[in-house]
Amino acid sequence: MEACQTRIMTGFVITIAQQKGGSGKTTLTANLAVAAVQAGKRVAVIDSDPQGSLGHWAMARFERGAQDLKFATASAWGIAFECDQLRKEYDLVLVDTPPKIDADLRPAIRASDLILVPVSASQVDLWATDGVLELCRREDRAVLTVLNRVRNQTRVATQIATQLKGMDVAMSQAVLANRVLYAETMGEGRSVLEVQKTGPAAEEMRALAEEIFAALPSSLAAAE
Ligand SMILES: Nc1ncnc2c1ncn2[C@@H]1O[C@H](COP(=O)(O)OP(=O)(O)OP(=O)(O)O)[C@@H](O)[C@H]1O
Ligand SMILES: [Mg+2]
Repeated sequence: MEACQTRIMTGFVITIAQQKGGSGKTTLTANLAVAAVQAGKRVAVIDSDPQGSLGHWAMARFERGAQDLKFATASAWGIAFECDQLRKEYDLVLVDTPPKIDADLRPAIRASDLILVPVSASQVDLWATDGVLELCRREDRAVLTVLNRVRNQTRVATQIATQLKGMDVAMSQAVLANRVLYAETMGEGRSVLEVQKTGPAAEEMRALAEEIFAALPSSLAAAE
């Protein structure tokens, strides 16, 4: 009962991790943040990647006058503290991470209710997921893999989806297609959800966000 009350009073933390560079971690973080904002949630994003891509996106967003989410940076060892602080004030805290799996990632994994692992639809990306899946298993954390950059009905996407299912790891039903709109909107500090109300990119992102929120230990939708 007490644990349940604590969960309702504090926000959820989701870390987005994948060893393979360019798999879509930052793109997924940014678009998911906007999906949560549009769903009426208070949202904070943390960039823990020295490359600072999420920071560039957030700055572009602020320069356009949008003030609908909180942005913070954190080093690997500062993440636990930052997440603890932010989850007191925000419904959802999203942590973007660098493309490597090492001891530095552990604090973010530990602080998280759910870890999202984007997998670009290629065999090389699938091979790269082992490290993060193993770390999540050791830390007993819930994982959801998300297929990204899917070219409709390509054989490789179908193969990857089949292999992920065989690896005993959860995979989202919604997948993100390979669309130039993702790259375009990132550069403008936006989400695909802000340039399309309907349309394939917005629909797949909204469906994915709903699925992710529902996958949280106690649904984000229920945490008012
Ligand atoms: N679904 C998509 N369709 C088209 N382009 C995409 C898609 N997802 C990501 N991209 C593009 O792929 C590139 C890498 O994406 P992103 O920066 O999100 O990956 P990342 O995993 O954060 O990379 P890094 O490991 O370097 O941090 C970017 O140019 C981005 O615009
Ligand atoms: Mg990135």
